[in-house]
Amino acid sequence: MPRLLLDGRPAAALAALLPLLGCGEEAAGMAFDGLADCHSGDDRAARTLRAVAAEERLHDILIRQLQSGLPDAGQYAVPIEAARRFHIELVRGGAALHLARIAALDSAVCTMFSRLLRADGPVAADPGVATILRRIHRDEARHVRLTRGLALATGPAPAMHDAAASARDGLANILLLAGDGFEAMQVDPALLARDIRRLPDGLLTA
Ligand SMILES: [Fe+2]
Ligand SMILES: [Fe+2]
Repeated sequence: MPRLLLDGRPAAALAALLPLLGCGEEAAGMAFDGLADCHSGDDRAARTLRAVAAEERLHDILIRQLQSGLPDAGQYAVPIEAARRFHIELVRGGAALHLARIAALDSAVCTMFSRLLRADGPVAADPGVATILRRIHRDEARHVRLTRGLALATGPAPAMHDAAASARDGLANILLLAGDGFEAMQVDPALLARDIRRLPDGLLTA
C-alpha cells in the first residue's frame, strides 16, 4: 500500500465511509455466488457471475488495505449495523428481484464514487486513494450493465422497478448516516441522497 497523502479531516472522513462501502462489497461477493448457483443451467451467466463475485472480494480487500493506511474515523465514525442488515435483506423475493436491486445499487454507488472522485476534491489529490476508488468505480459500472441485462432477461418489470426504487431509497438513508463524512470530502450529502433516491429512467426497462 503506497503512503497516503490524505490527512486531517478528509482522511478521518474516508475512514468512516469505507466500512459502509466495505460491508456492501462483502455482501455482494456472497450475493453473486448465490446468483451464480441460481443460473447454474446457463454456463456463461454462471461463469460471469462467479467472476463478479471474485471482483467483489477483491474490492473488499482493496478497501481494507486502504482503511489500514488511514487514521481513526473519530468524530465521523458511523455505526454500520444498519448498512449490514440492509445488504443482507437484498436477496428477498428471488433472483430476478435481487439482480434488479443490485443493478440499482451499483448504479447508485457509481454516482457516489464519481462525486467522491471530483477533480477538485481531496480524493483526486491523492493518487493512491484515487486509483483504488477509480478501479472499483469502473468495475461497478460494468456490474450495472451485467445485472441489468440478467434482470431484464428474467422477469416482469413492475416488481423489479419497485424493488430497485426501494433499494435506492434504503441506500440513500444509510449514506445520510455518514453525512458529515461526505461533507468533509466536499460532497453534498443532501444532494447525493436526493439523486440516489431517483431511479434512473430506463435502468430497468428494456
Ligand atoms: Fe464492489
Ligand atoms: Fe458490484
